[in-house]
Amino acid sequence: MSKGTEKKQILCIGAGYVGGPTMAMIAARCPQHDVTVVDINAQRIKAWQSDDLPIYEPKLLEVVKEARNRNLFFSTEIDENIKKADIIFVSVNTPTKTFGVGAGKAADLQYWEKTARNIVQASESDKIIVEKSTLPVRTARAMERILNANDKGLHFEVLSNPEFLAEGTAIQDLEQPDRVLIGSQETESGIAARQQLVDIYANWVSKEKIVTSNIWSAELSKLVANAFLAQRISSINSISALCEKTEANVSEVARAIGMDSRIGAKFLNASVGFGGSCFKKDILNLVYIAENYGLTEVARYWESVIAINEYQEQRFVRQMIKVMFNTVAGKKITLFGFAFKKDTGDTRESPAIYIAKRLLEEKAQVVISDPKALVNAKNDLAEFGSEVIFEEDPYKASKDAHAIAVLTEWDSFTTLDYDKIYRSMVKPAFVFDGRNILDHDALFKIGFSVFRIGRPSLRHF
Ligand SMILES: NC(=O)c1ccc[n+]([C@@H]2O[C@H](COP(=O)([O-])OP(=O)(O)OC[C@H]3O[C@@H](n4cnc5c(N)ncnc54)[C@H](O)[C@@H]3O)[C@@H](O)[C@H]2O)c1
Repeated sequence: MSKGTEKKQILCIGAGYVGGPTMAMIAARCPQHDVTVVDINAQRIKAWQSDDLPIYEPKLLEVVKEARNRNLFFSTEIDENIKKADIIFVSVNTPTKTFGVGAGKAADLQYWEKTARNIVQASESDKIIVEKSTLPVRTARAMERILNANDKGLHFEVLSNPEFLAEGTAIQDLEQPDRVLIGSQETESGIAARQQLVDIYANWVSKEKIVTSNIWSAELSKLVANAFLAQRISSINSISALCEKTEANVSEVARAIGMDSRIGAKFLNASVGFGGSCFKKDILNLVYIAENYGLTEVARYWESVIAINEYQEQRFVRQMIKVMFNTVAGKKITLFGFAFKKDTGDTRESPAIYIAKRLLEEKAQVVISDPKALVNAKNDLAEFGSEVIFEEDPYKASKDAHAIAVLTEWDSFTTLDYDKIYRSMVKPAFVFDGRNILDHDALFKIGFSVFRIGRPSLRHF
């Protein structure tokens, strides 16, 4: 058998937003290998076995169905599957630590370490362990120490293969990645293990896009990629505040600077702020690592990316309250969108959470409309009980409202009948477009007072 075609038992521990889609793609593109995804969360595994998947991603169900029960399996039998595996991807959550040393900044590696110990305890043969979770640089050293301190004479080779997919476009990103990064120790066994992973990806990713590096570069590159992406959003958002004061238009500024090939046009959309489970957590992690190495200026530089994001969310709500005559108490305010971005149901760190909470503190009646995120939104706002209304239909959600705030850039919000919506609302009717996706001139003509990011407002008073 030639390289890469020999049947392998591939296991992934952690069936979340990364583990599920990534393994579904490997199974679909590598029918010669068996791929199993395990999790401690039985409900999640059950959902992966059904057509009602635990996460929403365009085209995910099709890819899962192509391989499920052929060479893609979901299971809660963790130990048994560890025993069988040749290669184990670890894709458990690595949230920000909420307690003890590094609380609020460092990565909480308890799930990660438990998994490592689980692997040692259940293994009966040598294995390749792949870090898929995003981890602090030099975690592989700790991983190797835990794994190779076994008394069974087993050898574990640790690789770093960070995941760069973006939620909402996960399948497209996995199918045609900009690059796949695989880091290893630069020893003979490290390079041999790395080659096994290269051979798996080479089933559908072209060789030039499979980048290999030393393991520390791979670990650090993931944190740096997220920091750079978030930094672009904070950079344009900081300029949006200046545009609002100077009658410049942030979209025109973004277009003009984006045409400079050194800058590039992507990730320059001003908005209410970035969310998602990764950007903030990974920057905080970078800040914590820099501080640990005594690099205070580096830490402060990256911390400012988060500070601008919080500033953007805060000034959005402050403006809402101010223009609605300095009070929103008792006013119905409809949030169009709760997911942190379009085409996902994920609400982790969504700016909508902060904005909804601030409005509720101000005693507004908050109504939330989102095509995919209402289940998560209900959990995020559980403490407010029946004070918050969840209504998928945007027409019903905005009936009798004083204001609409667009917080997620769902395409469906751009094609609504805003004439009809305006007629059903309390006057004066406000639109706060936190994503700059609506036709503001048309809304203004209908009668709305329109507030947008990085452009002067259009007011009827
Ligand atoms: N979500 C993204 O877009 C994204 C993108 C790139 C990288 N990442 C990184 O990937 C990692 C996973 O992220 P996610 O969004 O998939 O998280 P998630 O919370 O959706 O999934 C993690 C899963 O791991 C399971 N788990 C935890 N401990 C376990 C254990 N000991 N044994 C078995 N299962 C266990 C949890 O039950 C959960 O289902 C994180 O490090 C994250 O930073 C996420």
